[in-house]
Amino acid sequence: MDNIELRIKKLSEELNKHNHNYYVLNNPSISDFEFDKLLAELIDLESKFPEFKQSDSPSQRVGSDISNVFKTLTHEFPMLSLGNTYSESELNDFHNRIVKEIETEPEYVCELKFDGASISVSYENLKYSKAVTRGDGTQGDDVSENIKTIRSIPLSISGENIPDKFEIRGEIIMPHKVFDNLNKIREENGESPFANPRNATSGSIKMLDSREVAKRNLDCYFYYMMGKKLSANTHWESLQNLKLWGFKTSEHSKLCKNISEVHDFIKFWDKERKNLPYDIDGIVIKVNSFAQQEIMGFTAKSPRWAISYKFKAEQVSTKLLSIDYQVGRTGAITPVANLEPVQLAGTIVKRASLHNADQIAILDIRVNDMVFVEKGGEIIPKIVGIESRNENSQPTQFISHCPECGTELIRPEGEARHFCPNSDHCPPQIKGKIEHFISRKAMNIENIGEETVALFYETGLVRSIADLYKLKKEDILPLDRMAEKSADNIINSIEKSKEVSFDRLLFALGIRFVGETVAKILAKAFKNILNLSKASKEELMQVDEIGEKIAESIIEYFDNKEHIKLIADLMNVGLQFETQEVENKLLSNKLQGMSIIISGSFKNYSRDEIKSVIEKHAGKNVSSISKNTDLFIAGENIGPAKLEKAKKLNIKIISEEEFREMIK
Ligand code: IVH
Repeated sequence: MDNIELRIKKLSEELNKHNHNYYVLNNPSISDFEFDKLLAELIDLESKFPEFKQSDSPSQRVGSDISNVFKTLTHEFPMLSLGNTYSESELNDFHNRIVKEIETEPEYVCELKFDGASISVSYENLKYSKAVTRGDGTQGDDVSENIKTIRSIPLSISGENIPDKFEIRGEIIMPHKVFDNLNKIREENGESPFANPRNATSGSIKMLDSREVAKRNLDCYFYYMMGKKLSANTHWESLQNLKLWGFKTSEHSKLCKNISEVHDFIKFWDKERKNLPYDIDGIVIKVNSFAQQEIMGFTAKSPRWAISYKFKAEQVSTKLLSIDYQVGRTGAITPVANLEPVQLAGTIVKRASLHNADQIAILDIRVNDMVFVEKGGEIIPKIVGIESRNENSQPTQFISHCPECGTELIRPEGEARHFCPNSDHCPPQIKGKIEHFISRKAMNIENIGEETVALFYETGLVRSIADLYKLKKEDILPLDRMAEKSADNIINSIEKSKEVSFDRLLFALGIRFVGETVAKILAKAFKNILNLSKASKEELMQVDEIGEKIAESIIEYFDNKEHIKLIADLMNVGLQFETQEVENKLLSNKLQGMSIIISGSFKNYSRDEIKSVIEKHAGKNVSSISKNTDLFIAGENIGPAKLEKAKKLNIKIISEEEFREMIK
C-alpha cells in the first residue's frame, strides 16, 4: 500500500479511537491540541489525495456542504412507542399481566427514559450506513448526514458476532450545558431561544446544513437493537454487546431481579435525576429475556413486554419575594414573581411567571407566601399553587398603572391581560416598535440586535424610528462595546434600508393588523402613502382582503399627528413611500417557462427577494404545489407536508445553494 494511503488509514483509525475514548467512554486519551493537529494533518492529506479518504473518516464529523434534502424512508421495523404508567400501582398491574402470561417472575432491565429525539441508525458490513428519524413510526426522514456529525456515534464498528446488517435505536440528546450555551448565543444574536433541550435536539437534527449540526454538540445513547438478536438471549446481554462493539449505552441501566428492585430504581432516579447533565422524563422497564418478550408480543403501537414510568413534573417550594410587572412590546402586562433562588430540574430558578390578574386572584397568591414552582415545557417556570401562607400577608393588588410610563392600564373585553394604551410613548413599546422596524422582514437593518436598540434608547440617541436615520458614526462609537467596524456596519445598513420597497416600509411602520401580506396588498392598491392616508374606510374595504378591522386600524393610524410627523421625517431622509414601477428587465432566461415554488427561509434572500430573483430570470413563482410545478427550492425549516407532496409529485427539489448555482 502506498505510504500516503497507509498514513491516511492510520490517522483515521487513531482519531476514531480517540473520539470513542472521549465521547463514548468519557476517558480522553490525548490532549485536544494533539487531536486537532492529527485531524489537521488528515484533512490536509485527504484534500490532496481524496481517492484514499476512508468511508469512516473522522473528518466527516464537521459536516459537509452537501445540502440536506431529507428523503422519506420506510423503517424496516416500525418505531413503536411505549405504554405509560404514572403510579406504582399501574406498574404493578403491568407486572401482574406479565407474570400471568409467562407464568413466572421475570427479570427486568431498567433504563433512563431519555428526553430527546429517537433515531434509528443502520450499519452494514461494520460501517455506518444511514440514520432515520422516528417520523410517524412507519416512515421517517433520512438524516444520515446530520447524525454522522455526532461524535459518540461510531462510523465503523468492530467486535465479535456482529451481524452484517442491523438497525439500532437510540435517543439523540442535548446536554444541559450545551443547551444553555446555545440559547445564550441565540439570544445574543436576537434569535428566539429553544424552550427545552428536546426541542433544541429535534430542531438540530433536521437542519439543512450538517456543518451547523456539527456545532450543536449533540450526544446519543443507544438502547435497543433490532432484528436478529445474534449472540444474545437477553436484552441485558444485547446492551453489553452494543457497548463492546463501540456504541454508547447508558451507564445507569440496571438488571433488576424482581419488581421490588424496579420500584427502588424508580424511587432512586426520581430524586437523583436532577443531578444528571441531561433531561430524562421517566424510566423504561423492559422484560429481560427475549424468550419471555416473545411470549408477551406487541400491541399495534407498543411492545407488551416494556413500559415507561413517567415522572411527575418536578416541583419545589420557595418564597415569593416580590412581584414585578413587565410591559411587552404590544403593551401587554405580564406579572413575574421574584423568588428566593431555588434549584429546579437542573437550573437555579429566581423568577417565575404568574400569567395574569385572574390567575393571581384564583390562587390568591401573595408576597411572602411559600409557593410551588413547576417547570413545564416552557423556559420560564410557573407558580402552580401555595404551600403555606405568611400570617401577615396581604392580598395582591394588581397594578392599575403602567410601571414604565404611569399610564392607566386597560383591560379590553374578552382579554385576560391588562394593557398599557400609551403605545407611542411607553419605553418598552417604543423599543418594540424600533425592533420591529429594523427586523429582517421589515427594513432588514442588520447589525442591530435587541441589546443595541436598548442601548440606543437608554443613551437617548434613538427615541423614535426617525432618530435611526440621524445616527452618525461619531454618536455611536463611544458606546459601550462598540467597535469601529460594528459602528460602520450599523451606519451602512441603515443607509441601505433607504432602498427598501414601499410595501415593506409600510409593514415596518407597525400599523396594527397590517402584516407583511396586507402591506403588499395596500402598497399595490394605493401606490403611495398619500393615497393610503387619504383613503376612506369604504375605499379601503373595497380592496380585496381588506376588512373592517384593518380599515379602521389604518384610519386610526393616520388620524394621529405624531404618525404623520414620523412619516414626514422618514420621507425627508429619503425612504421609499411609493411603489416603484419595477422595470421588468430580465437578467437571464435560465428559468424560462419554469413554475417554481419556494418553501422555508433562506440564508441569502428574504422570501420576497428570492421571488423577485426567480422573476428576473424569467421563472414563474407559484404558491401552491401541483403536478405542473417544475422546481421546489427548499430553504430551512420547511414544513414536512409540503416537502412530502413535492416528493410524491416527483418535483425536482433543490437547495438554496443549488439555486444560486443554477442562475449564476
Ligand atoms: S425503548 C420497542 N428505551 O421513548 C421499544 N425508549 O415512548 C422502543 N426512549 O420512542 C423504545 N429512552 O424515543 C426505549 N431507554 C429507552 C428510552 C426510550 C427514551 C424514548 C424513545 C421512544 C419513546 C417511547
